Amino acid sequence: MLPVSPGLQTLVITSIREEASGVKTFSITPEDGRGIPYAAGQFITLVFTHHGKEERRSFSLSSSPVLNEPLAFTIKRIDNGAYSRLLIDKAQVGDKLYTAGAAGLFTLPAEIPAKQIFFFSAGIGITPVFSIIKTLLHTQPGTHAVLIYSNRSREEVVFYNKLQALAEKFSDRLKLVFLYSTSFDLSRARLSKALLPVLLKENALAPKTDLLFYICGPFSYMRMVIISLEEQGIHEDQIRKENFNTNDRNIIKVEPPDKATHTATIKYLGREYSFPVAYPDTILQAAKKNGLSLPFSCEVGRCGSCAARCTSGKVWLSYNEVLMDTDLQHGSILTCVGHPVNGDVTIDV
Ligand SMILES: Cc1cc2nc3c(=O)[nH]c(=O)nc-3n(C[C@H](O)[C@H](O)[C@H](O)COP(=O)(O)OP(=O)(O)OC[C@H]3O[C@@H](n4cnc5c(N)ncnc54)[C@H](O)[C@@H]3O)c2cc1C
Ligand code: FES
Repeated sequence: MLPVSPGLQTLVITSIREEASGVKTFSITPEDGRGIPYAAGQFITLVFTHHGKEERRSFSLSSSPVLNEPLAFTIKRIDNGAYSRLLIDKAQVGDKLYTAGAAGLFTLPAEIPAKQIFFFSAGIGITPVFSIIKTLLHTQPGTHAVLIYSNRSREEVVFYNKLQALAEKFSDRLKLVFLYSTSFDLSRARLSKALLPVLLKENALAPKTDLLFYICGPFSYMRMVIISLEEQGIHEDQIRKENFNTNDRNIIKVEPPDKATHTATIKYLGREYSFPVAYPDTILQAAKKNGLSLPFSCEVGRCGSCAARCTSGKVWLSYNEVLMDTDLQHGSILTCVGHPVNGDVTIDV
């Protein structure tokens, strides 16, 4: 059964390449030839049907938009995963996939305020980082990069040869630090709160407060890196993070300060739609009930697919792992966890 959500684009798989055991890169091309605009670090949301129900999964694009490379994403097989197993075990060149497009906020700023960016990545968390590093090296000659990439062993490193080739080509601007948790040298095995400041000191070309940090990996790894950076005096504005695991539904539900029904006016693709949002529905859920299909993926405030801008009124978010304080100050909201409070709202999607 094919997915039926409106606005989906069909993709054709043009090549499949094994990167490491259980990890494959899928090059894709839109069937309609329209292309998919994206920024380095963004993900595409694929839509498929599973047991008769439409489901969505996001995959960071590992290709770079500035290198004339085919659009590509790279997947790790999850043992009991519905979609990753289907793609890794069964997908063939010529197969069709369906996408709701590219989105995400794990991207480079329009103007890079730092002379050097540190990338902390573990396992399959390399995918958006690989796209960003390639883009950075080819477009920002004044910015240096350090990649600290953790895996169990050398065999599990994704893109090892490609990373080495980049480090050779940009030897003055890219430093690679591979960490293997099975290494005999325990002082350089797992990234830890003790090792992180050492690596920072060894590699930083500027004061800590002038650096940027990008982090992508398993949840506990990311938490450790963020806490360690904060202990080093790094401000949260200097840190960008991408969380792949949106399946943890045990997020504690907090209630909005105002549960009255308010009207949301949504401006989307040149048209305007108005409908009531009645608690406990979020703006995204109310839109769906009113026949409006807005962009979304995780539906729990963790991926950024549904990011929009509130231009009048106030939207309260029950959870937010992606928007930074500066985004919130500029009116950015997430429709999947957003509720209008204290009156009606207008939102640009
Ligand atoms: C913004 C974003 C970007 C992503 N980019 C990539 C990418 O580039 N490459 C990639 O391989 N994956 C990526 N993911 C993860 C991916 O979307 C899926 O979560 C993953 O492929 C599992 O889907 P599934 O259908 O196979 O598993 P499901 O059927 O959804 O889950 C099966 C089991 O696996 C666990 N599980 C699900 N997802 C994960 C996970 N990410 N890590 C550990 N356990 C998990 C679940 O808790 C469950 O027990 C990304 C996710 C997000 C939100
Ligand atoms: S759909 Fe993922 S943050 Fe809203």
